[in-house]
Amino acid sequence: MEKFVLILLPALISTSGAKKSVYAQVGEDVVLKPPVIDSSNRYVYWTFQKEDGLELAWSNHLGGKKVAEVEPWKDKLTMSGDSLFIKKVQPENFGTFFCKIQSEIHSIELIKLDVSVSPAHPLLPGESLSLSCTVDSPKKPAIHWLNPRREKKGQGTVAVRVTSQDNGMWTCVVAEEKQVEMPVKVTGLSPTPVLPHYTSTSSRFAVPCSIPPPFTWEQIKTKGVQEVHWQFFPATSSGLNSAQRLFSLSLDSLSWKEDQPRDLRPASDPKTGNLELTRKLGRVDDRGDYVCTMKFKNGLTLNRTVHVEVLQIASSPGPHLLTGQQLNLTCSVGQPLPSDLQLQWNRPKRSAQPGQNSDQHTARLTIPEVSTDDGGLWVCGLWQGEKQLTSAVITLTIDPKVSVWTLVMACSAAAVVILLLLILALVLHRRRRRKMRHLRHQLCRCKKYVLTISWTDEMAPNAHLHSLTLIRVGN
Ligand SMILES: *[C@@H]1O[C@H](CO)[C@@H](O)[C@H](O)[C@H]1NC(C)=O
Ligand SMILES: *[C@@H]1O[C@H](CO)[C@@H](O)[C@H](O)[C@H]1NC(C)=O
Repeated sequence: MEKFVLILLPALISTSGAKKSVYAQVGEDVVLKPPVIDSSNRYVYWTFQKEDGLELAWSNHLGGKKVAEVEPWKDKLTMSGDSLFIKKVQPENFGTFFCKIQSEIHSIELIKLDVSVSPAHPLLPGESLSLSCTVDSPKKPAIHWLNPRREKKGQGTVAVRVTSQDNGMWTCVVAEEKQVEMPVKVTGLSPTPVLPHYTSTSSRFAVPCSIPPPFTWEQIKTKGVQEVHWQFFPATSSGLNSAQRLFSLSLDSLSWKEDQPRDLRPASDPKTGNLELTRKLGRVDDRGDYVCTMKFKNGLTLNRTVHVEVLQIASSPGPHLLTGQQLNLTCSVGQPLPSDLQLQWNRPKRSAQPGQNSDQHTARLTIPEVSTDDGGLWVCGLWQGEKQLTSAVITLTIDPKVSVWTLVMACSAAAVVILLLLILALVLHRRRRRKMRHLRHQLCRCKKYVLTISWTDEMAPNAHLHSLTLIRVGN
């Protein structure tokens, strides 16, 4: 019984109350609902502009109904219960509607609502946006706008200089009942980094920056782009250093000019919207902030800062060791990591050393005495839960240690060999000298007694020829 009264009360008030208003934009589907009347035996009539004006529709409790088929109502009306549905309402359909149920007459005013956002195309942060929400009626309902964070922003007409936080759905609220949502697109340069950008000395180095879709280079040009450049603020132990300008984009030739050589390469075609910087491998001195900036003629400046951290493995005393040496491996980005990130070692297969993992932020590993099994590829991964952000690698070469005794033996052996060689050389040298002297002796004799010496005996086949020549010389 109580429930019944609760439902009935508003109905009774409406019946005797003021004219009801319904707000709609052109093109919307509208439902005009009369107050609920609890009566099973009735006729419902809808008329337009006057109580006895054009009859738009009627229905009765026996299931009979009819809607007007005259312009501008043709194919627009339907009745469902007592309610009148208007499909895709047009400017000529706005006005006052009367609904007669039994002997009671209710009026509903359908008011045209104009909602617009200008400009309609995507905006860059800093550009102006104008939002308008007005009604075409002498009756002025309360109107206000809500931004995407549901904060109240002025009345019917609002002008704002947008920030990236204004990206999203704006809502116009009319008379606290009607809400119209309007999407607004505001995009700065991409990416919007949440985490620092992690890379390593063993990975490709890339600092991302791009003009996000739906923007194209052509649109950026139309907006009056004046300057595009990259800056680098190296990280040092004392915080951030002064800026280094790395590259400037020549807007005429759309080519990059290198200002400060750091062995980086900008993406080849800025027209694609990609402005990233790359190198084959990261370096420890790449740590720092990279700022990609775009300046416009109207004073608008867009920038995007990418904070880069570089993971590195350091080996003490170095990557080349002898068995039995102590080894310290350190893997870090040079500063403490956020608590949700972990470093994890992956050792060579045969390396069974438990090692000592001192703390999770620097991942220090101490092996008191390395063996040849510890040689190979060591990988240090930086993980965020199940996702690997980056990894660094180092290859250790471990040679068997050579003892002092072995060295002495090897040296002695070498010495003996050298001594033997020396002796051999000496003997050979002596023999050769003796032979030469003997030969020269013979030759001298040849010159003196050309014709008399039987020299030909020793030089077997050419003996005759030589003798002949000598004879001619003698002449
Ligand atoms: C980036 O833009 C912001 C806001 O426009 C500005 O305050 C800041 O100085 C800019 N940073 C650089 C490095 O130009
Ligand atoms: C390894 O680290 C320990 C502890 O810091 C240090 O005492 C030792 O000298 C280091 N060894 C090498 C080879 O760097």
